[in-house]
Amino acid sequence: MESIIFSSSIKIDLKGFLSRQKYSRLGLIMDSNTFRDCYPLIQDGIPNHDYFVFEAGEVNKTLKTCIEIWEWMTNLGLDRKALMINLGGGVTGDMGGFCASTYKRGIPFINIPTSLLSQVDASVGGKLGVDFNGFKNHIGVFTGPLAVLISDEFLKTLPPEELRSGYAEVLKHGLIQNADYFSSLKVSNWESQDWKTIIEKSVSIKKEVVSKDPKEAGLRKILNFGHTIGHAFESFYLDTDHHLLHGEAIAIGMITEAYLSSFKTGLSKDELKLVSDVLLKVYGKFDFPKEDVSEIINLCSQDKKNEADRINFSLLSSIGRCEYNIPVSPEEIASAITYYQSLTSQS
Ligand SMILES: NC(=O)c1ccc[n+]([C@@H]2O[C@H](COP(=O)([O-])OP(=O)(O)OC[C@H]3O[C@@H](n4cnc5c(N)ncnc54)[C@H](O)[C@@H]3O)[C@@H](O)[C@H]2O)c1
Ligand SMILES: [Zn+2]
Repeated sequence: MESIIFSSSIKIDLKGFLSRQKYSRLGLIMDSNTFRDCYPLIQDGIPNHDYFVFEAGEVNKTLKTCIEIWEWMTNLGLDRKALMINLGGGVTGDMGGFCASTYKRGIPFINIPTSLLSQVDASVGGKLGVDFNGFKNHIGVFTGPLAVLISDEFLKTLPPEELRSGYAEVLKHGLIQNADYFSSLKVSNWESQDWKTIIEKSVSIKKEVVSKDPKEAGLRKILNFGHTIGHAFESFYLDTDHHLLHGEAIAIGMITEAYLSSFKTGLSKDELKLVSDVLLKVYGKFDFPKEDVSEIINLCSQDKKNEADRINFSLLSSIGRCEYNIPVSPEEIASAITYYQSLTSQS
């Protein structure tokens, strides 16, 4: 498993880390935003290096950008002893790590995740890759970075909606593994929290789950709570004016899947109400027309985590406990979406 370094002073810790490594050349990958906002925080701590900047955004997490990165690495003449640093959110980490781990059959890389989502989620577990022909993370590998350096210093420049998106994964970690953690997380004024403590706790939860099941044969599926219906919403509204960020879609997914949990895996009515209230308070209510529902349900069965034609869900038996491989019918998904639509906004 990757070694994770929690840093309170990223420039100093990165400098120290690099001084202990042996490498021939140093290359940095960043997107246009992290080049502007994050690179200045570490620039002075990195010895002689080259960098490559790509245009920010999930639309650029493609083989086309990989080709540009591989060309850049080739033109620099990077050998197998070169070290890469990926500075950015999940897009940069997934794609930069994929490029490094395939270049000359793999060179070492370190990840410095800069969005809350990438710090608490993408930083752990070794999944790397890019989107392909409209399918998310369709081409990729499992490879761990040499190290992950995490610092909440980067969050100061992260747009608030991106912070809120990452917070959905934090809330999910509490819901699936730790009831006390869930109840400690703020609902009002949630923007001002002790992010350092939250990141460390969330990373430890994800790490524990992944270490028991690195290749997602079983237990790791609990991290998918909220994601089967959530991904369907995310995909359906992707190219529309109602575009949802990942965490906003997962919040809808967690409410609807908590509803499924209430009659599939025994989540109590009180806990269902609590989960719904918390998520509505942080994310508000997403309004969408009834006509969209059947296509959203179809999209649920296209999630790559399903086996054959069963739609398998990870569902809560209580707050802090999650079960996986629970088959759910399209009619039951419809009832969960109806439940969501019946709720009133809390924000
Ligand atoms: N590998 C995994 O296990 C894993 C897990 C979860 C998500 N992901 C992937 O991660 C991606 C989503 O991650 P994301 O939300 O970080 O996306 P992202 O990398 O696109 O970052 C979101 C936005 O925030 C900007 N940004 C990031 N850090 C910033 C900072 N400190 N200051 C200012 N702007 C900043 C980025 O430029 C971008 O515009 C998806 O592609 C998803 O598939 C991977
Ligand atoms: Zn997610």
